[in-house]
Amino acid sequence: MNSVLVASNRGPVSFTVSDGGELTMKRGGGGLVSGLSGVVKDDGVLWVCAALSDGDRSAVRQAPGGRIDHAGYDTGPVRMLDIPPATFHRAYNAVANSTLWFVNHLLYDIPNAPNFGTKFEREWESYRDYNGAFALALAEEAGHGARVMVQDYHLTLTPAMLRAERPDLRIAHFSHTPWAPPEYFSLLPDEVAREVLEGILGADHAGFLTDRWAQLFMDCCERLLGAEADRVARTVTHQGRTTRIGVHALGVDGAALWQRAGEPDVESHMTALREQVGDRRLIVRIDRTELSKNIVRGLVAYGEFLAAHPEWHGRVVHLAFAYPSRHDLPEYREYTASVQRCAQEIEDAYATEDWDPVILNVDDDYPRSLAAYRLADVLLVNPIRDGMNLVAKEGPVLSPHCALVLSREAGAAAELGPHALLVNPYDISGTAAALHEALVMPEEERRRRREQLHAAATALPPDRWLAAQLDALA
Ligand code: G6P
Repeated sequence: MNSVLVASNRGPVSFTVSDGGELTMKRGGGGLVSGLSGVVKDDGVLWVCAALSDGDRSAVRQAPGGRIDHAGYDTGPVRMLDIPPATFHRAYNAVANSTLWFVNHLLYDIPNAPNFGTKFEREWESYRDYNGAFALALAEEAGHGARVMVQDYHLTLTPAMLRAERPDLRIAHFSHTPWAPPEYFSLLPDEVAREVLEGILGADHAGFLTDRWAQLFMDCCERLLGAEADRVARTVTHQGRTTRIGVHALGVDGAALWQRAGEPDVESHMTALREQVGDRRLIVRIDRTELSKNIVRGLVAYGEFLAAHPEWHGRVVHLAFAYPSRHDLPEYREYTASVQRCAQEIEDAYATEDWDPVILNVDDDYPRSLAAYRLADVLLVNPIRDGMNLVAKEGPVLSPHCALVLSREAGAAAELGPHALLVNPYDISGTAAALHEALVMPEEERRRRREQLHAAATALPPDRWLAAQLDALA
């Protein structure tokens, strides 16, 4: 039995099957996983996650009780849930990624979506089943009075389901995303909105990345559930139970990041990039190709900047790394195509024999991203809306003098805003002007700002972020 458990959709490891049927394990990807993996390696901590692929499912089927660690793989304690593929697909793609993610990032093209009909009812049923499978596994694995840390929008119903099963447990839920204002959140069918809010309120502690998202969650609880929110004590009371609301602004582990960024593979990418761009100034962006990241408007803004400032032609390069994400969803495939089209238009308009104004890379290469951070003069982070955005925090740690152009709609703006150049992500001309201001910022000012960005970015590294939430459950 375990005394601390973590639950998230994506786990710390994943498996692929070769043609010959052999399984290979690799570390799981993505921000949440890399943040948590470093700190959740303690023997007492069990990580419960879903099998995401055929490789994962084969590994689970060979592992006694789904315990990957008991099957002899070199991982911390992990239990992977073999949820039927159709149920998983509806819960993960249709509900979590196409509905809850869209609501909390305000991504709908409102005249056309969302549409909640019988198809959605079935999808919602699967989301309930998927959350129920997590609740059941956690209830089986948790020791008496154990602390359980449930992560993100995939698992909003699990806290209440688990509490019903095991009232002795102390349960936390953490939202890594923004939260929507009540008028947008109530696009969801009333019963669904209620279930999501009451699901999270099943926890003792509901955590958010910034005060802004925490306040919006409390607004939704007041307006949609008639719950009582105490803004000073940061609590929500509903049907006789009180949930504490916490704000934990996840930051980066500066020392670990530096250590990784100093390795030879990163150094050789730096050399290659320098050969490619010469001594030109670099505007860097690094994102998943994700609708909320606003990559297209960022490229259009760079195009406007080039149109307004011919003096920079041939002297600056925009390195845009947009690595693949959620390609099961048609919106994401189309978005990737728009990003590529837009970069091509800039090339067509401005490229010369010896100057590529934009270099777009759409494949994932972590050491190359670290190399780009180290070389950046300007880092562009312009999401429509973002829970935190760790790129905005990693860049200033690794670049000795980069200026940060940052969307005011990123959670990171709460801490980094005073030292960044803040932009309205929809304001293309404003973003173009900020890119210019960042490029011409005097060296002394950029170094001073970068030091302050660095301090703010490393204020709450993942180990202390997790410890604070465990303490809140003590
Ligand atoms: C981003 C979000 C996390 C989320 C993750 C899921 O990193 O900030 O909140 O859990 O995406 O990504 P995935 O690739 O697992 O769908």
